[in-house]
Amino acid sequence: MNVLILGSGGREHAFAWKLAQSPKLTKLFIAPGNAGTSEIGTNVNISATDFEAIKKFVLENKVNMVVVGPEDPLVKGVHDYFLADAQLKNIPVIGPQKDGAQLEGSKEFSKKFMVKHGVPTAKYQSFTKTNLTEGFAFLETLQPPFVLKADGLAAGKGVLILNDLAEAKKELSLMIEDQKFGAASSTVVIEEFLKGIELSVFVLTDGNSYKILPSAKDYKRIGEGDTGLNTGGMGAISPVPFATADFIKKVEEQVVIPTINGLKKEGINYKGFIFIGLMNDNGNPSVVEYNVRMGDPETEVVIPRIKSDLLDLFEGVANQTLHEKSFEVDERTATTVMLVSGGYPEDFEKGKIMTGFEQVENSIAFHAGTKQEGSTIVTNGGRVLALTSFGTDIKDALSKSFANAEKINYYKKYYRKDIGFDLI
Ligand code: AMP
Ligand code: GLY
Repeated sequence: MNVLILGSGGREHAFAWKLAQSPKLTKLFIAPGNAGTSEIGTNVNISATDFEAIKKFVLENKVNMVVVGPEDPLVKGVHDYFLADAQLKNIPVIGPQKDGAQLEGSKEFSKKFMVKHGVPTAKYQSFTKTNLTEGFAFLETLQPPFVLKADGLAAGKGVLILNDLAEAKKELSLMIEDQKFGAASSTVVIEEFLKGIELSVFVLTDGNSYKILPSAKDYKRIGEGDTGLNTGGMGAISPVPFATADFIKKVEEQVVIPTINGLKKEGINYKGFIFIGLMNDNGNPSVVEYNVRMGDPETEVVIPRIKSDLLDLFEGVANQTLHEKSFEVDERTATTVMLVSGGYPEDFEKGKIMTGFEQVENSIAFHAGTKQEGSTIVTNGGRVLALTSFGTDIKDALSKSFANAEKINYYKKYYRKDIGFDLI
């Protein structure tokens, strides 16, 4: 099979790395990819949201399957585009259509969906310009901290958690009236604050059956001790020690099954990943959010732990035969540590020469923001490289990731030296 992966991050490099191990793979293309994916497959200089260019490429190169990494093409309807095109409609796309992608594309949609289908989640109400004063009144009924969420995609920045009522009211009007997050915040979801510790559970589904993938915990803040600004993710650990078999069973019964059944009841034919952000409050799961893709850097620890053939699993998703596929997980712990550009998640420079790759041992270097320039590799983004290692436990795996993090060099390299600190 010829496969095209859409995207350019560590997640897509991890997909490429895993798909390349499949005996079913013939040619692998990544659009646009990074320096790491170019070592495994062929990078194609096409944006993941340029559907017409993707069509031309897919037809010319006899691509048999498209695997979508990020949410943007899904929310914009890449899967629908394929299904509506006579020449493309039989080429499977791994990732939901627009209707299913609303689980991530609209917070209001996903909250309504959870309530309707009995999935445990924080109590909420949503507000627009027409009922802003009711929004203020609703805030007065809640205890701090106050959680305000822009309805639409806001590049991971659309959630505010505030301790002060007056500030929460001010931010609510800024979001709705002044479009603080553009059109994404013309509707705002206000919800109860959930206590507990966060983790993520990933599901692969063909619309009927599903596989629950390994759980993971990511470290979102830039600073050690979980301080400072939010990032896309600075590291991840899988499995999560507090996600016991008992807890995962509760997640399956209370969250996964009602979600899959809910999608079916809504007539949404969902084929792809569901990333379930969960709060574990004293052993009880509550859903913080759905994403309609894999997480990054969670993919860099989840995918290496899957022993089964990922391309075979994707075929199962496409043909709705996922229930027939075997699914095996490596029992070992995997950790990843993300190297970033100094200044990230605020301003940073790109194009810095990277060295030390040949010294990396006992870790997999998944490239995120990197680019091949002649014979050198240069930085090309905020998050640059994820170093994934296996170990007998978290400490053992992390020691390898950290040792290799020291060997890679570039101008203003930064990484968190405390990934997993709360779990050890
Ligand atoms: P989201 O974009 O929905 O993932 O929200 C970003 C982050 O805000 C989450 O990863 C949580 O850490 C936090 N968060 C969101 N909603 C809540 C909530 N209801 N209670 C507590 N924390 C929340
Ligand atoms: N690491 C969080 C995400 O991918 O959304």
